[in-house]
Amino acid sequence: MKAVIDTDRCRGHGICWSICPEVFDLTDDGYAEVLTPEVPTAYEAQVREAADSCPEHAITVN
Ligand code: F3S
Repeated sequence: MKAVIDTDRCRGHGICWSICPEVFDLTDDGYAEVLTPEVPTAYEAQVREAADSCPEHAITVN
């Protein structure tokens, strides 16, 4: 499973990072970045939750 941030949509709410800091981080500017584009199996549920929780729908998982 891969996770991708749409940087045009991200507004820095940080919910993704709070749900799964093992996969998401915030840049110095406060926007999300993906630390591990290939999501470890152990974190797939959290990454899906993060994608569902982003108010900007900026996270795509596939
Ligand atoms: Fe950005 Fe959504 Fe995370 S707005 S910081 S991808 S919760």
